[in-house]
Amino acid sequence: MNSPFDKALIFTDLHITPPGETIIGLDPLARFTQGLTHALARHPDAQHIILLGDLTNTGDPAEYARLAPALADCPIPVTVTMGNHDLRQHLTAAFPDGLNADGFAQHALDLGPLRLLILDTHDYENRAPLEQDGWLCPVRLAWLDTELARAAADGKDVVVFTHHPPCPVGFWAMDAIGLANSDALLSRLHSAPHVRHLICGHIHRTIHASASNPAGGGLPLTILKSPCHQIPMILGQGTFADSVDEPGAYGILLALKDTVVVHTEDFALSDGTVLSY
Ligand SMILES: [Fe+2]
Repeated sequence: MNSPFDKALIFTDLHITPPGETIIGLDPLARFTQGLTHALARHPDAQHIILLGDLTNTGDPAEYARLAPALADCPIPVTVTMGNHDLRQHLTAAFPDGLNADGFAQHALDLGPLRLLILDTHDYENRAPLEQDGWLCPVRLAWLDTELARAAADGKDVVVFTHHPPCPVGFWAMDAIGLANSDALLSRLHSAPHVRHLICGHIHRTIHASASNPAGGGLPLTILKSPCHQIPMILGQGTFADSVDEPGAYGILLALKDTVVVHTEDFALSDGTVLSY
């Protein structure tokens, strides 16, 4: 399809449950299906759909088995990565192309002038102090080093994707389970001038930040919310299980000339009828 845009769609934190199970009364599969239908109707020209981790609620095969058919007829290529709620072997069974040759859900995609580098921050070794933390092991960081160098050689600007944000966001319970070795990521991104933006999930709320490292400098960062349940706007205190029924969303990444743009679309807010005044 001809399009004036180089465009990718991003869904994060789907949290698909087994049949009949809900989260705070919401059916995550119904929410995701509603969002995907909305996105495909309005953005059929998108070149990629990225599922940025927490595809399922517990990593159970029955959850992946519900998700895979919902994507079976999707006309846009789908790329998946891992969140803390995913299990590698079950994700692979449902998405055979989900892992790279290293065995991690890390992928490099082209989007016009951009190279999209999707990282797998699932802590499979439980190296971080808390079970839900994110972690990038030496194998995954080496892949990032290689891909950053390859993008530079190809003249591509880079947008990096991680499920776990590498910086605090003010929700203390979530900040405690962020990317545990964030310095390893940020030191690399800060020293790579062709890295333009970072897109994350995990928090279940739309957030904009500038991620800094001890050497200084800031990297613009967008966190996208879930199509299903969100974290309530109670800064500071709280637990990561606190959730609220607010409109679900997906992200739209545009590679405009010299500018990276990330939109967020709350797909349930209206039926899309456009009125003029
Ligand atoms: Fe999540």
